Amino acid sequence: MKSHVKVFDTTLRDGEQAPGCSMNLKEKIEVAKRLEMLKVDIIEAGFAASSPGDFSSVSEVAANIKDCTIASLARCHEKDIDAAYQAVKKAVSPRIHVFIATSPVHMEYKLKMTPEQVIERAASMIKYAKSYCSDIEFSAEDATRSDPEFLAKVVRKAIESGAGVINIPDTVGYSTPEEMRAVIERLRADVPECEGIEISVHCHNDLGMATANTLAGILGGARQVECTVNGIGERAGNAPMEEVVMALKTRPDIFAVDTRIDTTQIYRASKAVFGVIGRAVPINKPIVGANAFAHEAGIHQHGVLANRNTYEIMTPESVGIPTNQIVLGKHSGRHAFDEKLVSMGFNLSAEQAERCFTDFKKLCDKKKETTDRDIEAIVWDMSPETTANVYVLKGFSVHTGDSEAATAVISLEKDGTVTEDVALGNGPVDAAYKAVDKIVAPPEYVFENYVIQSVSEGKDSLGEVITTLRRNDRTFSAKGVSTDIIEASIISYIHALNKLMDYSGAERRE
Ligand code: KIV
Ligand code: ZN
Repeated sequence: MKSHVKVFDTTLRDGEQAPGCSMNLKEKIEVAKRLEMLKVDIIEAGFAASSPGDFSSVSEVAANIKDCTIASLARCHEKDIDAAYQAVKKAVSPRIHVFIATSPVHMEYKLKMTPEQVIERAASMIKYAKSYCSDIEFSAEDATRSDPEFLAKVVRKAIESGAGVINIPDTVGYSTPEEMRAVIERLRADVPECEGIEISVHCHNDLGMATANTLAGILGGARQVECTVNGIGERAGNAPMEEVVMALKTRPDIFAVDTRIDTTQIYRASKAVFGVIGRAVPINKPIVGANAFAHEAGIHQHGVLANRNTYEIMTPESVGIPTNQIVLGKHSGRHAFDEKLVSMGFNLSAEQAERCFTDFKKLCDKKKETTDRDIEAIVWDMSPETTANVYVLKGFSVHTGDSEAATAVISLEKDGTVTEDVALGNGPVDAAYKAVDKIVAPPEYVFENYVIQSVSEGKDSLGEVITTLRRNDRTFSAKGVSTDIIEASIISYIHALNKLMDYSGAERRE
C-alpha cells in the first residue's frame, strides 16, 4: 500500500459553486497560484460546460499553473466532456473528471435512469473522455448511499473503461467514519482491480464529520483526498484541506502517510480564500483561526511557558502563521521591507513590492509600531495594478454627531476624471455610501453584509472592513484596510462596487 496521499483541491469548483463563494477570473487565478504554492497535486479548476465564464477560468488556470494537474468536472454527456477537454488541454498535466449518480434516489428521481443504463452511460462516457485524455477520474455521486454491490459493479466497469482514479463521494455528508472506512475496504475487497488504480474520497460536512470521514477513508485505503481551503463548499462545505493535511502530519502514528503539501503555506492560502470571498476567519476555526494557537487561560499559559508540548500539538510556524512581533518602523528602508516580505513567504513583483512599500510608509506615519499582521494586511489589500475603468477614492470628509444627520463629501476618480458629491445619512458610513452611490450610480443590488474587525492589537490598529453585495445569484465582496474605519469602509465599498459593475458590464455584453 502506497504511503503517499494525493491532495485534490476543489476550492475552485465545489467551493466556488456554493452561495456567497463566487470568484471572478482574476480571483480564481490568484487562488490557483496559492494552491500551486501549497503544492496540492490536483486543482479542480471548475465545471467547464456550466458557463462560458467557467470555461474560460478553467482554461486560464490550465494555461497558468505548471506544477499541478488541472481537472475539469463533466457530467456523463459528450458536450460536457468536449468542453472539459477543450478547457484543460493546455495544462501540463490535464485531467477530465466525469461523474454520474449511483444511489437509488438519485438514479430514480434525478437521472430517471435504470441502474443498467447508469452503468452503460458511465462506461461509454469514460471511454469517450479517454479518447481525449489519458488521466480520467470517475466519481460515483452519492456513493455512500448507493447499494454496495451495485457500487462495486459500477467501479469495476469504470476501471475497465479506462478510469485511473475512482472517487467515492459522501455527497450529502451522511456517512460516519466507521462507515466510510468500511465502504473503501469493501470496495477494495470486492473489486481487486482497485489495486491498480487510485481510490479517492470526497466528503461533505453536513453532520460535521467531513474531516473524520476523509481520514477514515485513508485508513480504509484511499490515496487521494478531495477537499477545499477553509472547507468552503455546498451547504455545510467540503472537508477542509488544512484540517486533513495537519491531522496526517500531526498523527503519523495513526495514519503513516505523507502528502506533498508545504504546510507553511496553509495560513496564507486560507487568508487568500477568505479574502477573495469576503469573509472573516472565524476565531475558533481549527488550524487557521486567531485562537487556534492562543493559550490564554492562565493555567494553559503556565504549562506552555514551561513546555510548549503541554498544550500545543503543532506549532503556528508549521502552518505559516506570522508572529505578532513588532517588525519594522518609520526608519526601515526598502531593503529591510523586501526582506521581510520574503521571510513572510510573499513572492511579489518589484512593482507590487513598491506599491506595498508606499502603503507601509503611509501606515508608519499613522501608527508607531508595525507588526507582521499589519504588513500582511497591506499585502492582501494591495491597491489594484490597473486603475483603468475602476473608481478610486481620492478624498473624503465626514461630519457626524448625536444630534444631527451625518454628512459625507466623497471624491472619486475614474479614468482620470475626478467627481465629487455630498450626501446625508444615518451615520457616517451610510452618508459616505450614499455619496458614493450618487457618483457611481450602480445597477440594482442587495447590500448583503458588512463586517469590521481589527487587524492586530492596540487602539491604533488597522481596521479591516469587508463589504458584500449581491446581484442575482452572485455575490461581490471586497476588503478595505485603514487605521481610519470610515476610510476602510469606503474603500471596501468602492472595491465591491467595481467588481459588481464589471460583472454587470459582462452581463450586458453576453
Ligand atoms: O459531492 C459530490 O458528489 C461531488 C461530485 C461531483 C464529485 O461534488
Ligand atoms: Zn461535492
